[in-house]
Amino acid sequence: MYRTHTCGELRLQHKGQQVTLAGWVQRVRKLGGMTFIDLRDRYGVTQLAVTEDSPDTVKQTAGALGREFVIQVAGAVIERSNKNPKIPTGEVEITVARLDVLNAADTPPFTIEDESDGGEELRARFRYLDLRRAPLQNALKLRHRMAQEVRSYLDSQRFLEIETPFLIKSTPEGARDFVVPSRMNPGEFYALPQSPQTFKQLLMVAGYDRYFQIVRCFRDEDLRADRQPEFTQIDCEMAFVEREDILQAFEGLAKHLFRSVLGREFTQPFPRMSYADAIRQYGSDKPDIRFDMRLHELTGLVKGKNFAVFDTAEYVGGICVPGAGGYTRKQLDELSEWVKRPQIGARGLVYIRLAEDGIKSSVDKFYTPEALQQIAATLNASQGDLMLLLSGNRKKTQEALGTLRIEMGNRLGLRKNDEFAPLWVYDFPLLEWDEETQRFYAMHHPFTSPKPEDLQKFYSADKADVAQVNANAYDFVLNGTEIGGGSIRIHDANVQQRMFEILGFSKEEAEYKFGFIIHAFRYGAPPHGGIAFGFDRWCALFGGQETIRDYIAFPKNNAGRDVMLNAPAKIDDIQLKELQLTASI
Ligand code: AMO
Repeated sequence: MYRTHTCGELRLQHKGQQVTLAGWVQRVRKLGGMTFIDLRDRYGVTQLAVTEDSPDTVKQTAGALGREFVIQVAGAVIERSNKNPKIPTGEVEITVARLDVLNAADTPPFTIEDESDGGEELRARFRYLDLRRAPLQNALKLRHRMAQEVRSYLDSQRFLEIETPFLIKSTPEGARDFVVPSRMNPGEFYALPQSPQTFKQLLMVAGYDRYFQIVRCFRDEDLRADRQPEFTQIDCEMAFVEREDILQAFEGLAKHLFRSVLGREFTQPFPRMSYADAIRQYGSDKPDIRFDMRLHELTGLVKGKNFAVFDTAEYVGGICVPGAGGYTRKQLDELSEWVKRPQIGARGLVYIRLAEDGIKSSVDKFYTPEALQQIAATLNASQGDLMLLLSGNRKKTQEALGTLRIEMGNRLGLRKNDEFAPLWVYDFPLLEWDEETQRFYAMHHPFTSPKPEDLQKFYSADKADVAQVNANAYDFVLNGTEIGGGSIRIHDANVQQRMFEILGFSKEEAEYKFGFIIHAFRYGAPPHGGIAFGFDRWCALFGGQETIRDYIAFPKNNAGRDVMLNAPAKIDDIQLKELQLTASI
């Protein structure tokens, strides 16, 4: 037997017992004639003591140990004289009677500690060593717990877990597909699914009225902290439902996860907000409602005072930053530069301070103190607050204010990662017009249904009408991150065909790409809808992080590479030949 206990298990109650442990050498400390070894496994760390009375072979082996050696020890559990209250095993140690090296280890390229000295790239190359660190082990344990709880909850609600294929057909809409050449069908390619969207709908047609799957999805898109090329969804679909049924069902799942994984009770229904209100009040379709600092429109109020920037703007709006009235000139100049960064894209920032010595602004030349007070009243500002105003094109300025709001929330410490503010956002526009390609794109995906009250506009020949159609779609937002998105689907073949027409597909194109689903809709498709949650994102947020990489055992870097495997990589000529492909580079 390699071990009788784990390295996280022994307590004072085990005092006097003979035990055998196995694990990795975390640290070796020599103190006079004594050697202390911290032995680690995924359960914790236990201190081993080699004393002057230990057998010579033990002393010799202990003297030659290095970090990350894999060892097995046997000995008695004793009470420590120098207790360590910081770890659960800190009251005991093992006096080592036998010590065997199971495998020696090269010196690791970075320290395997909670705070490692290794840079990101180095740790990624040696991911299996990084994964030995407690923060990463905790992340993967949390992920495991989440997956178990999702399964048990959805099972209790009569959902069936059904797998869908990974080798499917390329139908790019949204992100790019990853494609896989078919050896048996030369010149033809499979695509890896961006999501199981069409399959789950076909399962509804097939009568499996509650489906879920914890499933890998693949998207060839630009990467960010919360985006990986392969990521995992909790993908769900239900038949014979309306929006309210879906929101209720998955609010139930979210509450279950909050309770079972984090020990948090949400007794009230989650707040809900329309897309239009979210943009108007927060400048974002995924508002972080942990803090207020809402956007207020000032367009009408500020015009006509000879300040050309505001006079010519389509939209002027502002936020009130509580308690920031003491910002120095230097800090304000830095903020003005910050909003001009290309990601924010504002042309300039106007500030108003409600300080002890009166109201002061960067536009005092144009606005009297009374006019400034009016703005302050609209923004609900009080003594000691700072107001920040942006102007320009409505949509862009609202977005810029939304980004500025998040930045100020960060700077003021208002975005606490142990506070959770879930939110449903609904009534998204169905379509987005793309100037470059001069066509509509589905804002969510082409299977999302228009709201029933907008059906007339949906069939209108006038593009302006079509642009106004709202979707029966909803997102689940947590702390300013989009965790999930879904919709009530189109289940009528004719409506689906009209959707493809709006998206600029000819009948033949729609038939070639999506014939299977249009046909299925002609064989008794029930009304249905669903949602998919970004599982990695949800885990990361529950763990208090915005970056999903540590919640994935073997993630890719920002260039989409696995630097441990060094993938992607070239394939050899024989493989290319078998696939009847030629490499062009
Ligand atoms: P959507 O594209 O909104 O919807 O995806 C659902 C959720 O998946 C997460 N997500 C990602 N997570 C990590 N890396 C990525 N690259 C990535 N892309 C998306 C997000 C997002 O909210 N089939 C539809 C769902 C439906 O309609 O039921 C879909 O895939 O958290």
